[in-house]
Amino acid sequence: MSKTGYTTLLQFDFKEVLVLVLRFLLNDKVVEEANLPADLTVLEYLRNRQRLTGSKEGCASGDCGACTVVVATAVDGRVTYESINSCITFVGALHARQLITVEHLAQADRLHPAQQSMVDCHGSQCGFCTPGFVMSLFSMTKQPDIKPGPALRDQIDEHLGGNLCRCTGYRPIVEAATLAIQTTAEKPSDKFSENESAVLEILQSIENDDAQAHFHRPQRLTDLYAVRKKYPKAPLLAGGTDLALEVTQNLSQYPHIICLKSIVELNYCKSTDDQWLVGAGYTLSDFLTYFGALNSDIKTLLQRFGSTQVRNQGTVGGNIANASPIGDLPPLCIALGAQVVLESERGKRQIALEDFFIDYKKTALNSDEIVSGLRIPHSALKSSGSNNPQCKVYKISKRNDDDISAVCAVFNFQMDGEHLKEIKVAFGGMAAIPKRARHLENVLQGQALTTATLAAADSALEKDFQPISDARASAQYRLNVSKNLLRKMVLEVKSPDEPARVHDHVS
Ligand SMILES: Cc1cc2nc3c(=O)[nH]c(=O)nc-3n(C[C@H](O)[C@H](O)[C@H](O)COP(=O)(O)OP(=O)(O)OC[C@H]3O[C@@H](n4cnc5c(N)ncnc54)[C@H](O)[C@@H]3O)c2cc1C
Ligand code: FES
Ligand code: FES
Repeated sequence: MSKTGYTTLLQFDFKEVLVLVLRFLLNDKVVEEANLPADLTVLEYLRNRQRLTGSKEGCASGDCGACTVVVATAVDGRVTYESINSCITFVGALHARQLITVEHLAQADRLHPAQQSMVDCHGSQCGFCTPGFVMSLFSMTKQPDIKPGPALRDQIDEHLGGNLCRCTGYRPIVEAATLAIQTTAEKPSDKFSENESAVLEILQSIENDDAQAHFHRPQRLTDLYAVRKKYPKAPLLAGGTDLALEVTQNLSQYPHIICLKSIVELNYCKSTDDQWLVGAGYTLSDFLTYFGALNSDIKTLLQRFGSTQVRNQGTVGGNIANASPIGDLPPLCIALGAQVVLESERGKRQIALEDFFIDYKKTALNSDEIVSGLRIPHSALKSSGSNNPQCKVYKISKRNDDDISAVCAVFNFQMDGEHLKEIKVAFGGMAAIPKRARHLENVLQGQALTTATLAAADSALEKDFQPISDARASAQYRLNVSKNLLRKMVLEVKSPDEPARVHDHVS
């Protein structure tokens, strides 16, 4: 074995292996597993089967970050690193990837800067959360856009938003993150960068085929249709950030799972002359990068969508197909006038996203169809000629980070002098489905933003929605906050340089 261990791995001949297996790199070892349960999580696998107990289980639902690990993937000839929650990731999703755990960061007796900085800044007390924080810090050191500078503090908050610490306090941990980034900026090389080409070669040599017995990874839509016919009861899995909770929280069992992540036809985002075409497999992190650059409110919404770990795994298609009344992309994309594309062996059809949601968790999807993508018109976000669209997005939740919306409101419109035109408003959290506020739109359309308009708008909102009370907010709160969000939008339109600061947390 060489000093790093990777040279020997390169001599491994995968072609000799004939069994149906899951193959991936577990730290620096090639692992082959046959017949693992399809619904085994990475965390269970690490702790119970590999006895790697550095990654901790706090919540088993993606909320605390104690189980954070990093996965490295070969993308366009280089290795990319992403933090994920191992408690809500199924082990089959590791095929042809490198799983990096906290046990592997140190080199001989030298700690990685992500670890040493936590020691130097006193970032740990009981230590339960520490492996998760360290892995999030490690992942940060591997992001090319994260560097010392004015943006760093926000980037730290964004990347650590999915990690909870209940005893140290966040100040020393933020200092540790700052130090880790400074240290790696001064000395970027670590054992991971030194071994990157060897890892790349290994990952690229693992065939990305549908080779697992229970966890099916079709590569093309045609393969998907065939495997769905064979296993009609098997659930579709995209990022798993909803589906895995069925296993870890509801104790559901899935003997077979069909994973959509490798289907090339679902992984894209492109701009045509008049619209953006977004594949169902596009991750929420990628959506944040692309659409966040076009509109600062969309950026803020996506930064508050789950955590970095959740956004790295979760997909656009999963958020739409899950059809939660409190999902964040549905109200956004309904207000943007998006169409959803549904596809099956029988062909493709396209409907307005607002018509996709029929009743609580009931959608227009037929049993043989999948959500294959979204179409978002440029006119909703891009100025051209007299078209000058604005998109105001507000998410109300109990916590700022990593929390589901109590209410999400999206206003997409243009101003014609003092008057509103082309207005589309959609809300999440106000009904059994994400829904357009048609009465409100009718009242606002063509009107100036006056007190009289707002009074009429309040009554219209009450006609549009009769929300329910639940653990997130009462019905009355939801109605009141919706009316206040409308006022916030009006204030921001009237004084664009002075964003209105109204409470955006449920008290
Ligand atoms: C800690 C945490 C925080 C979260 N925070 C938020 C939040 O702030 N806002 C929010 O909206 N959501 C949030 N979620 C929910 C979840 O992350 C999102 O709904 C996410 O977009 C789901 O995508 P996924 O790819 O992980 O879906 P999966 O879990 O893989 O799938 C979800 C459902 O959709 C089906 N499905 C997936 N893809 C397709 C497809 N292409 N066609 C047909 N069916 C499909 C699956 O069978 C499954 O039933 C959070 C979840 C967690 C665990
Ligand atoms: S154990 Fe809490 S996020 Fe995984
Ligand atoms: S050090 Fe105890 S929870 Fe963070």
